Amino acid sequence: MSSHIQIFDTTLRDGEQTPGVSFSFDERLHIASQLEHWGVDVIEAGFPASSEGSFQSVQAISRHLKRTTVTGLARCLKSDIDAVYEATKEAVSPSIHVFIATSPIHLTSKLNMTEAEVLASIDEHVRYAKSHFDIVQFSPEDATRTPLPFLIQSVQTAVDAGATVINIPDTVGYTYPQEYGQIFKTLSQEVKAEQPITYSAHCHDDLGLAVANSMAAIENGATRIEGTVNGIGERAGNTALEEVALGLYVRQDHYQIQTNLQLDATKQTSELIARYAGLRVPRNKAIVGRNAFSHESGIHQDGFLKNPETYEIMTPQLVGVKSTELPLGKLSGRHAFQDKLKQLGYDIDAETQKSLFKAFKGIADKKKHVTDRDIHALIQGSAHEKQSAYQLDSLQLQFVSKGLQSAVVVLKDHANNTYQDSSIGTGSIIAIYNAVDRILQVKPKLIDYRIDALTEGRDAQAEVHVRLQLGEKEVSGVGFDHDIIYASCKAYVEAASQLASPPTSSKEGETA
Ligand code: KIV
Ligand code: ZN
Repeated sequence: MSSHIQIFDTTLRDGEQTPGVSFSFDERLHIASQLEHWGVDVIEAGFPASSEGSFQSVQAISRHLKRTTVTGLARCLKSDIDAVYEATKEAVSPSIHVFIATSPIHLTSKLNMTEAEVLASIDEHVRYAKSHFDIVQFSPEDATRTPLPFLIQSVQTAVDAGATVINIPDTVGYTYPQEYGQIFKTLSQEVKAEQPITYSAHCHDDLGLAVANSMAAIENGATRIEGTVNGIGERAGNTALEEVALGLYVRQDHYQIQTNLQLDATKQTSELIARYAGLRVPRNKAIVGRNAFSHESGIHQDGFLKNPETYEIMTPQLVGVKSTELPLGKLSGRHAFQDKLKQLGYDIDAETQKSLFKAFKGIADKKKHVTDRDIHALIQGSAHEKQSAYQLDSLQLQFVSKGLQSAVVVLKDHANNTYQDSSIGTGSIIAIYNAVDRILQVKPKLIDYRIDALTEGRDAQAEVHVRLQLGEKEVSGVGFDHDIIYASCKAYVEAASQLASPPTSSKEGETA
């Protein structure tokens, strides 16, 4: 076994394929900076050929990062490879990840290609990628459902064409540890290469085995592990990198392997992804769940108080769980607020800080302790409002009769034009959403609505997520407020704004 494992983070690519997750440009940049701070070796920043947005953010991340290798995904298409080249060429260490499926079901049902055609495509496109990049990673998609002889042939073809990193995706989360480990062993024995090859593991969690399979790959020669923070990703998600990292650390006696990760930045990284993805970390999640370091039973508490090691195999401090947090309150001034922003890792311009401080005072009036989560929500909420074409200006509700509510909603755009309409509905949220639909002249289907309380207690802020569908298009929005009704309206306005025509100066229902 090697003594060092590279950590390849694909939160911004495979992680963003989580249903309902879509990071904004600023969020992607912030996530990439946090991943660099955490110490990952490679960031898969996106799939540049898939959209202009992905291209722009891979390019911005490449320009911004100081140490980390930045890679982008490409199908076996010259135009995809060109897009990755253009997007990553300014990175300190650019690389490319080229893939094509190799399993019989993908060849016949998806690609409509023969094995010979797939091999020719691998040869042509890996060679083409190699003419642009020093480091080319190749993935035979659905490798674990590919017959071993053809998998070896595909990998040999990629290596002969210049790939120096071979990634083995368990695309559908189908394999089990012993089988997956054996694939790595066989490839390292069978594939002939003039240059050293890095073998990489990429697992999905459909059977809950992604981390176990990744650990088995390490035991059989993999020196790179791909995954995401909190294990987000397609369907059941990807390998949770924090679990691999802590597994290696806590069981150093067995693995004797180091990573470059700053383990005490793990919790902070997890919280950032959870916030931006709008996916709460389950309480019982390994390493980063809230219960991971709490002890409930009397026997456990007694043992823990006598010696923490009786029931704790790692300390909360190891992963950066803070035991104390100094909340702000109504008497906290501008300086305390600025210090808190700095401490939480935000670099915010003076103008935005002014409006955030005003909003902070508004929260502090309603809440005794303004926690770090409240501050994060404040900043996230203001960023969402900034990027939305319309924002909530004011809202009035009135009970009509027999459960019917009436809502008057006023929205405003960035030029401060206001737009007003009213509607009724069987409940306050429906009445509000109907009124927003009338203003924006859209009628989407509400396919997801979720409320989270940001902190404990009756005075907690609410975080509401909505997902809307109009024809083929799905969009989402998030709203934060002390009041659930306002948070629900803000979330809906952000989502529905993406379906509406952009604001014009003369809109029906306009009042100013
Ligand atoms: O799961 C998968 O097969 C992938 C590839 C693109 C590597 O994400
Ligand atoms: Zn994947």
